[in-house]
Amino acid sequence: MFEDLLRTWDGEEAAVRYDAPTETWMLVCVHSTRLGAAAGGTRMKVYGAPHDALRDGLRLSAAMTSKNAVAGLPLGGGKAVLAVPEVPQGDRRREILLRYAELVDALGGSYVTACDMNTSERDMDVVAERTAHVLGRTVEGGGSGSSAPSTAVGVFHGIRAAIGHVFGSDALGERSVLVQGVGAVGRVLAGLLAEGGARLLLSDVDEARAREAATELGAEVVPHEQAISTACDVFSPCATGGVLTEATIPTLRCRIVAGAANNQLGAPADAEALSARGILYAPDYVVNAGGIIHLASLELLGEDEARRDERVRAIADTLAECFRLAEAEGISTGAAAERMVAARLAAGRTA
Ligand code: NAI
Repeated sequence: MFEDLLRTWDGEEAAVRYDAPTETWMLVCVHSTRLGAAAGGTRMKVYGAPHDALRDGLRLSAAMTSKNAVAGLPLGGGKAVLAVPEVPQGDRRREILLRYAELVDALGGSYVTACDMNTSERDMDVVAERTAHVLGRTVEGGGSGSSAPSTAVGVFHGIRAAIGHVFGSDALGERSVLVQGVGAVGRVLAGLLAEGGARLLLSDVDEARAREAATELGAEVVPHEQAISTACDVFSPCATGGVLTEATIPTLRCRIVAGAANNQLGAPADAEALSARGILYAPDYVVNAGGIIHLASLELLGEDEARRDERVRAIADTLAECFRLAEAEGISTGAAAERMVAARLAAGRTA
């Protein structure tokens, strides 16, 4: 399994370590360093088998290459997976993170890590005890803290760009937006949309969380199993990946899909299915780049918050370009975004 996955992968290198004391597979996938160090988060997760973890890491690292390239960052793409027998806490967690940090350090800066599913800014503080190649520590730990608010701001600008493209004006006043998942990103996004005057619908598996946010923001709650098929102008997936599939796309009742979740499409061809239904899809890795922009701008490039905000706002311009390219070439927005990535990679580091 490992052999097949690695043989068919188009990335540069994968470092594999089995940490016997904690029964943890540590997999660091460096997909591309063409534009700079391969940057991407560390996912901690329980997998059925180590090859499932490797498959996840390889796929996610390629997505980071696309995300960083199209965001105009001088970064390549990478991802790390810690495949644990159970999500650890306390000393055991610290032990795993320290030994994982040694692995990251041994790669000499070709991979730069950050938070991802089940890893936090505090975890990055621990990683930083053994390597300098880490972004997203706590502010007290010398980092720039949570990237979620910037991700939300980027998605907000992206939604406006998409609304502008479809309706001819980016005014939110007459538009309804359904946010699926009111966690770290979705909650901030919902606040921005409410402020902008959108009619807001909120949905979360944690219904109490959705209700609380809805009460604060004057929004409507949609039961989570009905989120995808509820009529709205914009459906914004901010919970989990794989929400747009052969099975769900025919049930959508929206004009636009634009949200923070990674890997929203079940398969690349689902972008074509959305386009065939006349639904404008904002490619996930274009619209959700605010988080990595936040980390790279403040921590790697030494920029201030004003410059970071400018870069996050530019997500709207990148998306508008993607929408125009798709229309001009008669291709899906997913295919258009891939062309933009290819052009940026071909231009190399000087772009
Ligand atoms: P989070 O864990 O804080 O929030 C996720 C929310 O979604 C929770 O409230 C959870 O109860 C809810 N949820 C989970 N499954 C659901 C389902 N099937 N239906 C409805 N609600 C569901 O996560 P966070 O940080 O807000 O991230 C949201 C998404 O955005 C994730 O897919 C993440 O990978 C992606 N993302 C996050 C970035 C960041 O900076 N935090 C950056 C780029 C992408």
